[in-house]
Amino acid sequence: MSTLALRALSKRPATSLRPLQALISQRGVSGTRLNNKPSLSHQTDTSMSSVLPPPPPPPKMSFQDIFAASQGEHQGVWKNLWDKGTYHYWDRGQASPSLVDFLRDHPDLFQPSKTPLTALVPGCGRGHDVNLFADLGMQAYGLELASSATDIAREFSETIPPPPAPGSRSYITGDFFSNEWLNRLDTKQFDLVYDYTFMVALDPAKGLREQWAERVAGLIKPGGILICLEFPLYKAYDLPGPPWAIRSETYMGLLESVGFERVHHEKPRRYLPAGKDTDMISAWRRK
Ligand SMILES: C[S@@+](CC[C@H](N)C(=O)[O-])C[C@H]1O[C@@H](n2cnc3c(N)ncnc32)[C@H](O)[C@@H]1O
Repeated sequence: MSTLALRALSKRPATSLRPLQALISQRGVSGTRLNNKPSLSHQTDTSMSSVLPPPPPPPKMSFQDIFAASQGEHQGVWKNLWDKGTYHYWDRGQASPSLVDFLRDHPDLFQPSKTPLTALVPGCGRGHDVNLFADLGMQAYGLELASSATDIAREFSETIPPPPAPGSRSYITGDFFSNEWLNRLDTKQFDLVYDYTFMVALDPAKGLREQWAERVAGLIKPGGILICLEFPLYKAYDLPGPPWAIRSETYMGLLESVGFERVHHEKPRRYLPAGKDTDMISAWRRK
């Protein structure tokens, strides 16, 4: 990865957000016609509607309400959101400028290598960060739970220029905690793993943060790097997720215990709006 490549990349225009897909609520059809004549109930409905005001629209559920209503079936919720194309809740249409700056500022993070570096982005969404790593000449893999998500990421990648050689981008469907997707890849461990809004999207009450740390440690080569864009550091612990509140000390507690050493921890120079002035970015070397 050269400094020039990073500079050129930071000047690329940010890709714009696709128009949001409207949520269409499915309604049952009342007043079914028989022999093309309005039914009695239809006539009744019509006459009543001139007397009564229309019923209020159902209250809109917040993102967090949708997860709370699922009674812990979060993977099903993610899949459903992707199947409906409602990724606007989290998608920001571009790789994080904090990450772009961080990679440019720390070219020493990676040793020169004869083979392309491999990068993994778990819960990659539409793949903006995967595409960034590929543009830097890495073999970049994005992992997503639903095939509808990887289809959307692949489709999006076809709208942007291909990465320069030897960079490549692949979008894999699978559960981060399962080996099924890993068994399909030639690469079993990566030089780099990047986490942004993935670990904090896993329910901490189920012990998934500790499982995430163990899993990440297994997926990174000895000497390899984990980069975390730490978010949401501002959020109160009693507020519902995802994303669930976190602090820098939490990353430290989770990652030191599975063999990582923190080698950088800094305030980004540029932010995405969601974490403006509060995000931190950290890099961890696997011992
Ligand atoms: C908040 S979104 C963030 C997506 C992406 N990092 C971004 O910033 O646009 C979290 C993503 O993690 C994915 N996800 C959740 N649990 C997962 C799992 N066990 N394995 C793989 N992906 C998962 C969801 O489908 C969702 O797209």
